[in-house]
Amino acid sequence: MSHGRYKSPITATLSGIKDFFRKQQLEDRLRDSDRIDGKTCLVTGANRGLGFAIASELAQRGGRVIMACRSGIPEAGDIIKAATRSNTVEMLPVDLSDCESIHSLCRTLERRGAVIDILVLNAGITPPKSRQSKQGQDLMFMVNYLANFILVNRLLKTGVVPNNTFAGTVKTEQKIARIIFISSDSHQNASAIDYEEFGRYEPYGVTKAINNYSYFKLVLSTMATELSRLLAPEGKVDVSVNAVCPGPVNTDIIREAPLLLRVVLRFIFTLFFQPPVKAARPVVYLCVSPEVSGMTNLYMAMFNRKNMDPKVYDVAEGKKLWNESARVWKKIDPEAEGFLLTV
Ligand SMILES: NC(=O)c1ccc[n+]([C@@H]2O[C@H](COP(=O)([O-])OP(=O)(O)OC[C@H]3O[C@@H](n4cnc5c(N)ncnc54)[C@H](OP(=O)(O)O)[C@@H]3O)[C@@H](O)[C@H]2O)c1
Repeated sequence: MSHGRYKSPITATLSGIKDFFRKQQLEDRLRDSDRIDGKTCLVTGANRGLGFAIASELAQRGGRVIMACRSGIPEAGDIIKAATRSNTVEMLPVDLSDCESIHSLCRTLERRGAVIDILVLNAGITPPKSRQSKQGQDLMFMVNYLANFILVNRLLKTGVVPNNTFAGTVKTEQKIARIIFISSDSHQNASAIDYEEFGRYEPYGVTKAINNYSYFKLVLSTMATELSRLLAPEGKVDVSVNAVCPGPVNTDIIREAPLLLRVVLRFIFTLFFQPPVKAARPVVYLCVSPEVSGMTNLYMAMFNRKNMDPKVYDVAEGKKLWNESARVWKKIDPEAEGFLLTV
């Protein structure tokens, strides 16, 4: 079954461009004076593209930045250190397609007693067809969705992301931590979550790969919404959890597309898409702005506040997704039981 909203990557791309020309209501709300000195940020997939731009801007604003990446170590970090004159940028290795590697990253943070104030879940892929992860999952499902579920469970359970709800680690004077999911507005109108297929590997080709990209963003946004509910018991926000679509960004995310398609998309990307530095700004706004401190379950499409697809807000669906994600995680990972948030 096909899950996405778009029949082709060209229509998906053109739809992104249309949004790009809308007025950006909150564009001037990110101020140069919004600083995060002394705060620790972790950005996944920060060695290139949007993640690199987010990490650079957070370092520029005084944050200690951990770039959690599978490649570009240490070059990407060195570039940011030199450009921002920061000596508090470092890179830690992680392959988000592999549960063991995710645990290894978390263990490093736990051993150090790290406290992550701002967590940006950015890494994502657009493979042209199905591929299997080390633990036998669909690779796009694993990197774009389940890895994020695993990370938030373990980092909250162990208090690396400080919270009272699951770890009892927030000191009263401490500011509320922020978790930001990088979604995509292409999730709007993707099909409902298919639990028959959920966590089951089935080979597919390019059309379904395109559809699955927006579909997994819908799954991710639904999980983010459920997490925002879990972290605001009785309406009191413990950790803020927000999602953002950066809009069309001129990155190399299409590097694995079939050659002809890649040439067409590269042309459109270069001509119409915004540079990562600009696309990172709404993400950075959610990371640093005092205006959104303690606010949760916000969604921004670039600099516009917006609703996500209505399916994302369905409470029963959020709980079901959480339970199904836990089931799949436990099936593929012996360490899951110890770090699953009990809700
Ligand atoms: N570009 C757009 O127009 C657009 C629009 C809306 C949303 N987004 C979202 O923005 C986010 C960033 O995309 P981008 O455009 O910046 O793409 P990109 O330039 O391809 O960057 C993707 C990042 O994810 C990392 N990554 C991929 N697989 C990984 C794995 N197994 N383990 C660890 N890291 C992994 C990549 O690392 P490697 O360098 O090692 O591959 C890279 O750092 C994604 O979530 C994407 O869905 C992008």
